[in-house]
Parts: sequence; structure tokens; C-alpha cells
Amino acid sequence: PSSHLFLSSSLLELISLPVCVLTVSQHALAGVVEVNEGEESVLMPCYFKGMVPEDNPLVIWTRSDLNPSLIHLRRDEGDDLKDQHQGYRDQTSMRHDLLDTGNFSLTLRKPRLSDSGNYTCRLADEREEWRVTEVQLKVKGEQQTPPPAGGQRSNYRK
Ligand SMILES: *[C@@H]1O[C@H](CO)[C@@H](O)[C@H](O)[C@H]1NC(C)=O
Ligand SMILES: *[C@@H]1O[C@H](CO)[C@@H](O)[C@H](O)[C@H]1NC(C)=O
Repeated sequence: PSSHLFLSSSLLELISLPVCVLTVSQHALAGVVEVNEGEESVLMPCYFKGMVPEDNPLVIWTRSDLNPSLIHLRRDEGDDLKDQHQGYRDQTSMRHDLLDTGNFSLTLRKPRLSDSGNYTCRLADEREEWRVTEVQLKVKGEQQTPPPAGGQRSNYRK
């Protein structure tokens, strides 16, 4: 079942895709993102530096410990969220120009403790699938956050 994850080597040589595509069989996490619960949003980075396939490309974010595991799906025509995990409804967004820019990062609004987990960003077309990156998201509870200055304007973030 994992055979479709592998590029034929001739195709690889032909287009010589850069590094991030080639880690399909590894489980190394590309990054850990930490955020406090209740922040406006959190960005889970995913950048693809190769050539996006022309025929019906898909960008897919999943979280493997959930069923359904689909967090966000983008087609050429736009978002396709009909099979999205309902817990993420209206919470996710991606750039409109992602297929041109390769910036597949996912924005998650109002992160909750339960959003903590390992997310996988993939690119696929009708024949192949590439794991682009993995992000471990850690959403921290209020007690670990510095107390917000109540009502006061605070510049602690800058
Ligand atoms: C990628 O897109 C996100 C929005 O989805 C944006 O916040 C971020 O700055 C972009 N990254 C780069 C390197 O442009
Ligand atoms: C996410 O990945 C890390 C590192 O591999 C692992 O320690 C952790 O248990 C994973 N979390 C989940 C929810 O699978």
C-alpha cells in the first residue's frame, strides 16, 4: 500500500526535486510548533520547492490519530472540505495561491488543547503522493502562559 509513495527514479532524475519531497519513508518530524490555547491562530509551516504536478494536484493535511484523518484538502479549483474531520470545520485555511507559491502552510484558528498532535502535509496527483513535511503541534494550556496584562496594552510580543 505504500508503493505509491515512491517516485520512479527516472522521473526523479528528470525533474530533480529538492530535498523535502524525498523523505517519504522516514518519520522524522520537520518541526515542532508551540502555541498557547486561545491565540488567534497558529501557522503550521509547509513549503514545497519542487514543481507542482499539473494534472489535478492535491494538497492534503492530515492528522493520523484522528478518524477521519483529513484536516484540509485543497484542489486546483479550491478547498474541498466535504470529508474534513468535523472538529476542524471553519477552523482551517490555506493561501489561495499555494499551488503557485509552494507555500502549503496551514492556518489553524483558535487552537484548542485537543488540536495537539502530529500533522502531515502531502502533495499528490492522480498517480503519486509526496509527503512534504510533518508538524508536531503542541497547544499549551492557560496555566503555562504568562499572565496577560489585564486590559492594559502590552508589547511583550515584540
Ligand atoms: C506562507 O503563508 C502564510 C499564510 O498561509 C504566511 O503567514 C507566511 O508568511 C507565508 N510564508 C512565506 C515565507 O511567505
Ligand atoms: C507525535 O510524534 C512525536 C515524535 O515522533 C511522538 O513522540 C508523539 O507521541 C506523537 N504524538 C501523537 C499524538 O501521535
